[in-house]
Formats: sequence, C-alpha cells, structure tokens
Amino acid sequence: MTGGRERVLSGMRPTGNLHLGNHLGALDNWVRLQDTYDCFFFVANWHALTTGPERVHEVPRHTIEMLADWLGAGLDPDRSTLFVQSWLPAHAELHLLFSMITPVAWLERVPTYKEMVEQLGIASPSYGLLGYPLLQAADILMYKAQWVPVGADQVPHVELTREVARRFNNEFGPVFPEPQAKLTEIPKVPGTDGRKMSKSYDNAIYLSDSAETLRAKIRPMVTDPARKRRTDAGNPDVCPVFDLHRIFTPEADRAWAATGCRTAGIGCLDCKDVLLRHMEPALGPIRERRQTYVEKPDLIVDILRAGTGRARAVSEATMAEVHRVVTLTP
Ligand code: TRP
Ligand code: SF4
Repeated sequence: MTGGRERVLSGMRPTGNLHLGNHLGALDNWVRLQDTYDCFFFVANWHALTTGPERVHEVPRHTIEMLADWLGAGLDPDRSTLFVQSWLPAHAELHLLFSMITPVAWLERVPTYKEMVEQLGIASPSYGLLGYPLLQAADILMYKAQWVPVGADQVPHVELTREVARRFNNEFGPVFPEPQAKLTEIPKVPGTDGRKMSKSYDNAIYLSDSAETLRAKIRPMVTDPARKRRTDAGNPDVCPVFDLHRIFTPEADRAWAATGCRTAGIGCLDCKDVLLRHMEPALGPIRERRQTYVEKPDLIVDILRAGTGRARAVSEATMAEVHRVVTLTP
C-alpha cells in the first residue's frame, strides 16, 4: 500500500457542503496527491466542536455530506486512508501528552486563535479553542506525516507542530519526525457577489449545486461595475466572472471573452453562458458521483470504518513508541 512513498496527512472540519473555493483550494489538490503519496485524510470532528459546540447534532450529517464531496471529487478509498478523528481516541491521548510540554504562550500567539476570538467575538474562549493547533499537531505527528497540504493560514499550525515534535523528542526520546507544510498555488475563487467565496457571505457555489442552480447563480453574478450597459466596454481584469474563466475556460474561448468584453462586442450574459458551458463538464461528473454517495450513507460509513481501521494500526504503532519513552507505570 505504502510502497515506500512519502506520507501526506490533512483533515477538514465537517462544517457542511464544500464549495468551489474549498474544492480548488484543497480538495482538488488532495485528489492529485493520491498519485504520488501515501495519503491520510480525515474528518476533524473534534475540531468542529472548538467553535460551535452547540451545533454538535449537525456533525454526523455534515460528515456524510463532506465525504460525499470528497468521494465525488475523486478521493479514492482504495488508495487513500479516509478516517474519523473521534473514532481514534489515541489522538486525544497524544494531545494530552503534548499539552504537558507546550507553553500556553505558544498557543496564545497563534494567529488563527487571535483571529477566531476577535472575528467571532468570543468573550470567553474555551481551553479547546486555545488547544486547537495542538490537537492538530497530534493528528499530524500520530502518522509521522512528512507533508501537510494546507492553506497559508494553517502554516503557523505546522510550525507549532514542528516545535512540539522537537520538544517531545528532547524531553522524552526521538519519536517524531518534523513535518512540512505543502502549500499549493490556489487560484482566486470569487463568490457570486465578487467577494472571496465563503459560506458565511452567502455567495458560494457548492459542489452539490445542480446544473440549474449553477446557472441561476452565475447569470446574475456581479461583473465589472463599469459595464452598466451592453454598449459599455468592460475590463476582464477587474471582473469576478473572468476570474472563473481563468479557472474553467480554455485559452481560445477566454481570449474571445476578453476581447468581446473590452470592445463591447459581447454582453455579459453571452460571456457567462460560455463560462457555464465550461464549468459544467468539470463539475457535472463530480456532482453526479457525489449524488450516488449521498444516497448511500451506509456505504460512506463503511468506507470510514475501513479507513479508520487502517489508521488505527498506524496510530497504535506510534503510541507504542510513545509509551516506551513516556514511562508512567512500573
Ligand atoms: N485546521 C484544519 C482546517 O481548519 C483542519 C485540521 C485539523 C488539519 N487537523 C489537521 C489539517 C491536521 C491538517 C492536518 O482546515
Ligand atoms: Fe465580466 Fe464577461 Fe461582462 Fe466582461 S463581458 S464584464 S468579463 S462578465
């Protein structure tokens, strides 16, 4: 299975359907990594509780939906190990051991912590939220992953993971290799209002959206604001629709759209219809495969159980090493 390949590990919190930004920013990259690496991808469901413990009842449904997105996009359970964090309590044990060697100050200065507290206006941040990146360190080090594909915002978490690995190895004995973040080039993915695509802005296009919904979202999409009338020339470089052309539309049609825009030779709806014609062949097959899985939640659970079994074997081997150096009992 491994075949001497380097290991990649990453996870996502189950917060609902994945949108195009999630797909192009992470998932699509995971799918490609499967060709080269021994991949472990997991559902970070404990992490989902760090910001919204009151929404715990949504986690199971969101897990099924997220897995349908993963499998629809092409994650292959025969090649990658797909698993659930909370089914492996060893993650919690390792997190606890790490908490004994991690200064609170390291966690307090992690940028995502400060941002979450400020942005979400959390008056009294939980211990779990402060420990978020430390649990992430346990997720990563448990599998001795060399590579962690994440967005730029998560790089400090991988840095912290490296510091924790060093400190553990010094304190107790050499168990953990230091992982590296694997940054991918992420295209600019605008939402339908021109801002960055985000669930909380209500501007997202979901992998689960039907062809009709996709059309209904693209046709009224915000364009170059200078192009008020059909006869006004536009500038594709400031148009969010054109950002999507850059992702989906082949060179020839893209040049046609850019020229037509600059000369007022085409209307925005003409431009959007061409975009839709190129989005559909990319997204249609994902949507269809996704749908077959959504209809079989039991199959998804079976896939996760099998993957968790494989992950468990690796986690047990790591914990045996940990127990050998952190000797707590006679
Ligand atoms: N923090 C990650 C995110 O929000 C999710 C995550 C949890 C993760 N544990 C991880 C990612 C371990 C990579 C490795 O996207
Ligand atoms: Fe944007 Fe296309 Fe309209 Fe130009 S023609 S403003 S690129 S939607």
